[in-house]
Amino acid sequence: MRQPLVAGNWKMNGSLASVRELLAGLKEGIGDVKVAEVAVCPPAIYIPETQAQLAGTPISWGGQDLSVHESGAYTGEIAGPMLRDFDCKYVIIGHSERRTYHGETDELVAEKFSAARKSGLVPIFCIGETLEERESGITEEVVARQVDAVIEHCGVEMLGEGVIAYEPVWAIGTGKTASPEQAQEVHAFIRSRVAKSSSDVAEGLRILYGGSMKPDNAAELLAKPDIDGGLIGGASLKAADFLGICTAAND
Ligand code: 13P
Repeated sequence: MRQPLVAGNWKMNGSLASVRELLAGLKEGIGDVKVAEVAVCPPAIYIPETQAQLAGTPISWGGQDLSVHESGAYTGEIAGPMLRDFDCKYVIIGHSERRTYHGETDELVAEKFSAARKSGLVPIFCIGETLEERESGITEEVVARQVDAVIEHCGVEMLGEGVIAYEPVWAIGTGKTASPEQAQEVHAFIRSRVAKSSSDVAEGLRILYGGSMKPDNAAELLAKPDIDGGLIGGASLKAADFLGICTAAND
């Protein structure tokens, strides 16, 4: 059985005051997490505050990106060991916003995957097609290429130490969720692609869905056999909404 994971990607949102309020709301409402694992990925500068508030709770935390380097003259970057210094468990890599606005390639994302593992972080590895790619009928080709890049660079066993997040780019922040059937179809394809290299890894690998997931659509997405949790953007900024999704994952 794969344990569901619900992770919040706060992106570049919040202030110290709003982060404190959100963390307090999460702490208060989380109760006993029985089935789902829960994590939040705040902007890096709020990670120390997150650690201070969430240590000892069932909620883990992580970064939104990391450098491929461990230290050195890389202005503005954050290294894996620095995230580990603040007890981050996870790090998001290859988010479509980084691929689009920061020119991250499949190869760089694969290097980040291995840098994350080297630091003892669990990568939440994002993949997904754009609307244009979906409409051209190349969704499977795109996600296969993205997954294969990590398998080629890191090996399938290392891929299995991370988590995949399937995030169709057209569903991110648009309010347009992939239907549970559309998402399940791609999730099953991703698992079958991994199975070509290792059926054991494919069977154990958690594949999250991301893209306008909300408390009112989470249950039907999470009921699909190959959807093992969610990577939540907008709805993770409100404690009640995020906790509503965690509850759906617990059912
Ligand atoms: P939204 O939930 O706001 O669509 O964002 C999804 C996402 O990009 C999570 O990484």
